[in-house]
Amino acid sequence: MRKLIAGNWKMNGLRASSDVIAEIVSGLEGADIDADCLICPPFTLLGGFAGQTKGTALKIGAQTCHSAVSGAHTGDVSAQMLADIGAAYVILGHSERRADHGEASADVALKVMAAIEAGLIPIVCVGESLADREAGLTRKIVLDQLGASLPDGLAGHPFVVAYEPIWAIGTGLTASAEQIAEVHLEIRTALTARFGDQGQGVQILYGGSMKPANAAEILGVANVDGGLIGGASLKASDFLAIFRSAG
Ligand code: 13P
Repeated sequence: MRKLIAGNWKMNGLRASSDVIAEIVSGLEGADIDADCLICPPFTLLGGFAGQTKGTALKIGAQTCHSAVSGAHTGDVSAQMLADIGAAYVILGHSERRADHGEASADVALKVMAAIEAGLIPIVCVGESLADREAGLTRKIVLDQLGASLPDGLAGHPFVVAYEPIWAIGTGLTASAEQIAEVHLEIRTALTARFGDQGQGVQILYGGSMKPANAAEILGVANVDGGLIGGASLKASDFLAIFRSAG
């Protein structure tokens, strides 16, 4: 399956970060890698980066959206607005959104529908905490989140799933190849049970302290169809090195 290497910039980046985007774009030119490349900057940079990358191999996405198309939701941004400004993807249900903003899987499912209706590709995040893992609840937590975050209306529409163990995010700890293989297989099995053939073709990304030194090993694990990269996506040379590991 074609891989997707996606950078989640989280709340990082200023207009001057267009230099990083320029470096990534030039690094992608002529790169013969069977993978898509995506950067998800904060809202403030979406329009600028979408303009800067138009016609290049680098796609631009957002990090969340509201579930409504428009209305009295101060401070929020709709999926339609994201599509209008040039975003192609939107990350939904990231653990930091679930923790900081109390997003439940039912909320995520509504946002996923909004994204689909706006023509965006949602990247739906799931993952267990360290306490969940130590209690032997990884499979249950991940599959419960997955089931409740994916609305039935996704059938027939492109979407991506990201497995991000919370204990591996920003900690320098990475799940082992065995741990990743086990969870990704559970996710693949659940997607296929629910969406049939479509579930076989859904890209399942791994996220959590991915860096140039571990990317090749992680991307070589069965059912790992790409990465969702935080810290290492902020530096063009690191992000490009991870991208090249996908080839
Ligand atoms: P890090 O790569 O910084 O661990 O972040 C992972 C992540 O949360 C991507 O969405």
